[in-house]
Amino acid sequence: MVSVSNNLDAAPDAMVVLGIESSCDETAVALVTADRTILAQRIASQEEEHAPYGGVVPEIAARAHAERLAPMIEAVMDDAGLSLNKVDAIAATAGPGLIGGVMVGLVSGKALAMAADKPLIAVNHLEGHALSPRLADEALGFPYLLLLVSGGHCQILAVEGVGQYRRLATTIDDALGEAFDKTAKILGLGYPGGPAVEQLAGEGDPHAVPLPRPLRKSKEPHFSFAGLKSAVLRAHESGEHKRADIAASFQQAAIDCLLDRLDQALAKNAPFPALVVAGGVAANRAVRRALENLAAQKGMRFVAPPMALCTDNAAMIAWAGCERLADDPNFAGDPLDLKARPRWPLDPEADIVRGAGVKA
Ligand code: KG4
Ligand code: ZN
Repeated sequence: MVSVSNNLDAAPDAMVVLGIESSCDETAVALVTADRTILAQRIASQEEEHAPYGGVVPEIAARAHAERLAPMIEAVMDDAGLSLNKVDAIAATAGPGLIGGVMVGLVSGKALAMAADKPLIAVNHLEGHALSPRLADEALGFPYLLLLVSGGHCQILAVEGVGQYRRLATTIDDALGEAFDKTAKILGLGYPGGPAVEQLAGEGDPHAVPLPRPLRKSKEPHFSFAGLKSAVLRAHESGEHKRADIAASFQQAAIDCLLDRLDQALAKNAPFPALVVAGGVAANRAVRRALENLAAQKGMRFVAPPMALCTDNAAMIAWAGCERLADDPNFAGDPLDLKARPRWPLDPEADIVRGAGVKA
């Protein structure tokens, strides 16, 4: 279980990692221990800044991160009652993501690491999502089959250990979160779209609007959501359907695609004890329910992190740092001249597939 404790007088026994996340539109800082306690965390969303543009504007995001990060780091240290010398390492997202924002967080992490003489851990944002279920669930061991569904990615991964990720499927065009966001825009629901589409879908009939299930039954392992989004646009423009029915039918079509592709991944690979979901779209209750049913059918455990750990946060980055430290006792930190990476695949061996987004 994730627990939050405040006002510590003394440093905890377990190692403590300070995490910094700034790869998209959330500025986040957290202190997490190796025994799975979130000592303190803060998240500042930039929703208001980006809402007028219907999506994240990179320049605005980078400036907002730069303004907010330093006071947030100070506040999180205060919340936990810890000074920097009690922290064992500084973990910062080093990519993938919007490069200006990533640079702000990474440079801040480097400066703290240098000033306090602590190791820097450069974390892949996707690795943060991929390992976040283990922060919340002590019993979740390797390997597990992971569906990583966020605003920039839609992947199925075999998570075989810390730093050991085998990509089994990815999207050839839009990420699933992006499809939710575009559907929200078409239906006039504003930004960010995922939660709004989910809410409206709750009032609609998921079988009212005939929509495609792209790549269903395809032998290729990948996802595609661009055609689904276009079909949503056509359904809306036809004027024949209620918005709630379109939202519900879109959500159902997306879920059917997820189930079909996961079914295929399970059929093609050695069995996994657990099916795990992570990333922003993992906050969707209908998606969680469908995956839980699939896992039950296949005799697998189902693990989904608590909602707050699904969307971007710094606890998952600090936790990935804890995992790296625990995995390699000789790890002395990443080099301070390490570069921020707009693209950084989790599985470097996987083929590059057209369209797999930059946003994480
Ligand atoms: O992981 P995340 O916070 O940021 C990225 O790394 O991309 O994911 C954000 C994405 C957005 O596209 C958002 O619309 C989607 O996750 N999302 C949801 C829900 N909550 C967030 N999609 C569907 N249903 C939700 N409840
Ligand atoms: Zn993310």
